[in-house]
Amino acid sequence: MARRKLIYEGKAKILYEGPEPGTFVQYFKDDATAFNAEKKAVIEGKGVLNNRLSEFFMKGLTNIGIPTHFIKRLNMREQLIRQVEIIPLEVIVRNVAAGSMAKRLGMDEGTPLPRPIVEFSYKDDSLGDPLVPEEYIIAFGWASQQDLDDIVSIALRVNDFMSGVMHGVGIKLIDFKIEIGRVWDNDFQRLVVADEISPDSCRLWDIETGQKLDKDVFRKDLGSLADAYTEVARRLGVLPSNVTHAPTKPTLIN
Ligand code: TMP
Ligand code: ASP
Repeated sequence: MARRKLIYEGKAKILYEGPEPGTFVQYFKDDATAFNAEKKAVIEGKGVLNNRLSEFFMKGLTNIGIPTHFIKRLNMREQLIRQVEIIPLEVIVRNVAAGSMAKRLGMDEGTPLPRPIVEFSYKDDSLGDPLVPEEYIIAFGWASQQDLDDIVSIALRVNDFMSGVMHGVGIKLIDFKIEIGRVWDNDFQRLVVADEISPDSCRLWDIETGQKLDKDVFRKDLGSLADAYTEVARRLGVLPSNVTHAPTKPTLIN
């Protein structure tokens, strides 16, 4: 088979040229990084789990009318996506104070917020993805006021969807990050949810026990990251049958 053209390699994923113009293949690696890649590890099976989980969430969003870049899952580690122009922002929604917000404001992790809060970071690893106000985003032309209004509306809808789905399996959605891409249909622009939605980019706490089931397990050395993600996938009913146990004979993957 001809080698595919590599478009971009990130910390957790690789993008390859897709089979048709306007498409990419998104490959999920097992690499885990934290603190702007100061901490690194390979977590066997993470890419397979995140591929499945991102598929599950993106399909769910499509079903309720929120457009995403997702077209279809191709295999254990790859999905076909629409080529989009990524807006260089991390769009973060918080329901409960945790992580950088708790630290910055001296709040206890776990303090409920009076309403969901949407914030933006400028996507630039060399700067450590700094938090930016809307004024900067508009002044520097990363997005227009109209884009931002649409992005906030999409982010809050994603929050409602994700909170509901997670609540249904006994998990509290503390916060999450999404990325938004532009798709052009001739001169007409649409904004779609892009990148991935997975426990790498959310905080997920068990409602009963408060147990962390997201990348904080790796950031804070709280145990097995693969076990945490497997638990999320199991509860959502999207566990691929052969992730945790190596197959002893050829297994049909669908
Ligand atoms: P923070 O509290 O560290 O700012 O993170 C907020 C949310 O964004 C949390 O769910 C984790 C996610 N996140 C990413 O997906 N990528 C990142 O690089 C960072 C810093 C956070
Ligand atoms: N995604 C960032 C990194 O890879 C930070 C994080 O998720 O904690 O370093």
